Order: sequence, then structure tokens, then C-alpha cells
Amino acid sequence: MSKETTNQSKRVNGHAGIKKQFQRFSRLNRALHALMIVSFISLALTGMSLKFAYTGWASFLSRLFGGFESAGYIHRLAAIVMIGVFIVHIIDLVRMKRKEFLSWRALLFGKHTMLLNKSDLRDLRDSIKWFVGKGERPKYGRWTYWEKFDYFAVFWGIAVIGSTGMMLWFPELFTRVFPGWAINVATIIHSDEALLATGFIFTVHFFNTHLRPEKFPMDIVVFTGRMSVEEFREDKPKEYEALVASGELEKYLVEPYPPIVIRAVRTFGWTALTLGFSIVLAIIYAMLFAYR
Ligand code: HEM
Repeated sequence: MSKETTNQSKRVNGHAGIKKQFQRFSRLNRALHALMIVSFISLALTGMSLKFAYTGWASFLSRLFGGFESAGYIHRLAAIVMIGVFIVHIIDLVRMKRKEFLSWRALLFGKHTMLLNKSDLRDLRDSIKWFVGKGERPKYGRWTYWEKFDYFAVFWGIAVIGSTGMMLWFPELFTRVFPGWAINVATIIHSDEALLATGFIFTVHFFNTHLRPEKFPMDIVVFTGRMSVEEFREDKPKEYEALVASGELEKYLVEPYPPIVIRAVRTFGWTALTLGFSIVLAIIYAMLFAYR
């Protein structure tokens, strides 16, 4: 370990034995992610209870929601929350562009870009080598290629599912412009995209974030916003080294949350994971044994 890194570590652990942590996510981003989880799971539960209405589990679920009609109302309420999350995120991007990045070019193509670039392709290649034991773990930066992929899967997913959902919600309005059959097409797109999104989030996204060996069984960083400096150094070495080299690491160090907050966060996380996996199992059951 270099002298500078050792000095940084001393400063990190300096105050009254409390180990400071690295702040990865802002308060707004954490709140938006929590709202996204609540709205997505509500949409998936209510939506799937409509889509697979002929199964036993769907009628059980819809009774819990107060019947198919009120499941539809809950679906619309959760949709408003999800669209709100999306709009606030776009406003936040515009704010970040004005205050921190100064231009769209810097925001979209700078070092912390969410767009896939050449270094992600290199990381992907090196990750495959690492998986088969032919190389070291790549030195990932702030956003890994799979995090970028997950982000854009949700980004365009909301655009598709939100626009078709609005057509189902307000068919009279939309058929002033579009022909009637567009509503049938919107139903198919909405329904199939919902299946794709649910399948993706509760398998690929859950695996990427919680089930990979470094994070198993759950990574709570997106709820607390913070992680230990050791974990940060291991997980995102490129970003860690850049912050140490520029002497900026300390700017991002914060006190950890007390154990009671961590317990509450874990309870929320476990509930979300359990619901997500259960929805996937219920869909697989419906498709294998009851599909119509
Ligand atoms: C975000 C905006 C969304 C809007 C505005 C929206 C709106 C709607 C509306 C109005 C319906 C018809 C409900 C009824 O007949 O009572 C519907 C059905 C449905 N929605 Fe959504 N929804 C949205 C997001 C989602 C998401 C994120 C999922 C799943 C993850 C989803 C899954 C479904 C499913 C499976 C159906 C039933 C489709 C079928 O009958 O085959 N929706 N949605």
C-alpha cells in the first residue's frame, strides 16, 4: 500500500474510533430508488394479477388488493409514483448538467458517464477472462458496464411501459389521434414489456447487485448511500485510486448509520427481494402449468 493511501486510511479512521464510510449515492438518488422499488413491485403485483387472472395465485392476490377493479386503481396510483420518479430524475440530470458538468457533452461523455464506452468493452473482455481464471479482476470505475446496462434497461423500459400504459389508461384521448387498433397493440407491448421488465429486474438485476459473490446475500449501498472504504477500494479500485491521487477522497467520507437504521434497511431489502423472487416463481408456474 502506498504512503499516500496509508495516510488516507489513518485520516479515514481518525475520529474517536468511528470508521468513516464512502458516500456513493446522494439522498435524492436513494429516495428515488426506494420509491422506484415500491412502485415497481406494486405495479408488478397488480399488473401480473390482471395478466394471469386465470390462476389461483392471481385471484388470491387480487382479493388482497380488494378485487380486480381496485387492483387496477392501485396499478394507476403506483404508475403515477413511477412516472414522478422518472421526471424528478430527468430534472436532477438537468440540474447536474448546469451545476457540476456545465455541458451535456461533459455529462454524457465525461469520466463518470452512464453511456457504454470503450473502457466498458475492455472491462467486459477482462471480466470474461477473470471469470474463466485467465486474468485479474478488472479495475472497475464508478459505474461498471452491468450497472450502465441495468440503468438503461430501466430508462427505456419506463419510456415504453409508461407511454403504452397511458394509452390503456386514456384510450378515448389517444384514439382521437391514433386508430383504434393502436390500443390493442399498446396492450400487447405493455403486457410483454411488463413480463420482460419483471423477469429482468428480479433475476439479472438482483443477481448483478445482490447475488454475485462479492455482495451476497444483499448489498444495501443504494439504501444507505454509503459503503466501507475497504469495500469501496475492493469494488471500484479505479475510482478509489483516482480520488486518493487527487486528495479528494476525504470530501466523500461520512459517518456510518447506527445499527437500528441498518436493521430497518435490511428488513426493507429482504422484503423487496422476497417479493421479487416470489413474483418470478409465480410467473414461471403460470407459464408452465396454466398458460392460456
Ligand atoms: C409506469 C406507468 C404504467 C402505467 C401508466 C400503466 C397503466 C396500465 C393500465 C391502465 C393497465 C390496464 C389496467 C386495467 O385494465 O385495469 C395496465 C395493465 C397492466 N400493466 Fe401497467 N402501467 C404502468 C407500468 C407497469 C409496470 C411497470 C408493469 C410491470 C412491471 C405493468 C404491468 C402491467 C400488466 C401485466 C398489465 C395487464 C396487461 C394484460 O392485461 O395483459 N405496468 N397498466
